[in-house]
Amino acid sequence: MVIRRSLFAFGLAVLLVAPLSALGRADSLPGPVYHAYSFEQLSNSRHSVHTGFDDSLPQQVMANVLWAMSRAPRAGSEYREFYVATPDNVYRYDPSSFRLTVHRAGDFRYNSGSAFEVGVAAGRPEAAGMAIQAGLLAGAAFRDEGPGTMDDGRRVVSCPMQWAADHADGDWKPNHPIQMVDVFGRAASEPLDTLCAARSSDSSLPLPHVVGPDTFEAVVAGLRQDSSFSPVGLSIENVSQLCWAAYGVTPHLTYNRRQGVTVPTAAANYYLTGKIYVVDEDGVERYHNRLPPGTDLATRDHRLERMAAGDRRPQLREASSRIPGSAPAYFVVCVPDTAADQVMMEAGFAGFQLLAQARALGLSGFLVVPLDRSERRAIAVALSLPTGHVPALVFACGEAAAGTAASATDSGVVRIVRAQPAIRNGQLRLEYLLSRAGEVRVEVFDMLGRPVRLLLDEQQSSGYHAATWDGTGESGVRLKRGTYLVVVVSGGTVAKHKVTLG
Ligand SMILES: Cc1cc2nc3c(=O)[nH]c(=O)nc-3n(C[C@H](O)[C@H](O)[C@H](O)COP(=O)(O)O)c2cc1C
Repeated sequence: MVIRRSLFAFGLAVLLVAPLSALGRADSLPGPVYHAYSFEQLSNSRHSVHTGFDDSLPQQVMANVLWAMSRAPRAGSEYREFYVATPDNVYRYDPSSFRLTVHRAGDFRYNSGSAFEVGVAAGRPEAAGMAIQAGLLAGAAFRDEGPGTMDDGRRVVSCPMQWAADHADGDWKPNHPIQMVDVFGRAASEPLDTLCAARSSDSSLPLPHVVGPDTFEAVVAGLRQDSSFSPVGLSIENVSQLCWAAYGVTPHLTYNRRQGVTVPTAAANYYLTGKIYVVDEDGVERYHNRLPPGTDLATRDHRLERMAAGDRRPQLREASSRIPGSAPAYFVVCVPDTAADQVMMEAGFAGFQLLAQARALGLSGFLVVPLDRSERRAIAVALSLPTGHVPALVFACGEAAAGTAASATDSGVVRIVRAQPAIRNGQLRLEYLLSRAGEVRVEVFDMLGRPVRLLLDEQQSSGYHAATWDGTGESGVRLKRGTYLVVVVSGGTVAKHKVTLG
């Protein structure tokens, strides 16, 4: 057994250090390696590096990037092809066998410093966008410890480049037009960022979590679409998380000093600003990642603006027969101009982020993309969208109908993720993560184990939730000072938090 394990370790080490130049005329890439970083952490830390990288990356980086790209949804694309340019050749990638075959012999990279460049030829720019977003996060997972070690502390960096796509479209001689090229290399780069830049100026959304429950690769491996949902609504914590993943601000600044977000955007234009809507039983709300009025790209925010009160889901569902009828919530990603590929690609970035975030939370999701002209018009009317907000995709989200999807994180059902240690005048806010939907009971006990206050007892979806406690007992009278235990019970597991009442 010991010998076998060390042989495996040796094999893995060989794959990780195998240089790109070792590729032959037709070669199979290894399967993906899994890193320790969550989808949320990579989304929070991603940024484009435009220049200054070198071409020495192990084959494994390319293997992970192409694997992740090929797992992204196809967005109704009639074709989707992946090309890779290295210093030696341009290859075509076959996702079913992980196989690279020489497509054009010779060095046709756009950027002579890049290690490899991946071109996506897709019938729809939204499809290219989904794949590009998956690939750039997959590359960012290669840090300086664990599998995929970059031995000099320099890391994998990348940048989607229109210039490279224009070049590839001619010089790589693709079978179909290449929509976008992601350029990968190695450069000095910041460590992963666990700072959350997204704070709500009006408390309409709780803080999102920038470190999540599952590794990026596990989320990608589990990506799937489900179109039947249970009626349990999304918690505000889950809505916050999904909005942030789609288009929330991150700590980095762009080359022109704008506040970065979870997805790239051509020339830092941020075409989706103020154009993502949440539709649930309460009404229609618009997501803002900038301070009011919501247009200054140097600012940051994380808030919802109520656009219409009352349930518009029936009208939305009627706007397209492809929109799943049972979802408790829908995210509608709009663009200013459906004719511009770069803009539609950005909708694809957000679409991938929504699906991956739902998966990381153990929720189900279904992307309706692309939308045709009549669907766009009908959705805009159903939601009374302002002029210039044209629907590009609809993401239906909720808890899977019983038995249709397993949770992304099956071990441990409940975990407390954020809570203050003490309360004086205000109230305790205790956030927890459920890896499976189920009955949840949150109760406060004194240190003798006597129950003093039941905070909630209800059916909840998987993902993030919160309970609050103002320090009062069942009678509504504030309890005496001291230490109390807040206990969250779900699915036979228990999580406890000690809090001092001052
Ligand atoms: C569709 C698209 C095309 C882009 N084209 C280029 C390009 O040709 N050259 C370049 O240096 N960066 C390019 N970028 C990267 C953007 O400049 C970058 O995403 C933007 O400044 C935001 O910075 P961030 O990605 O670090 O958040 C492109 C990005 C997108 C989404």
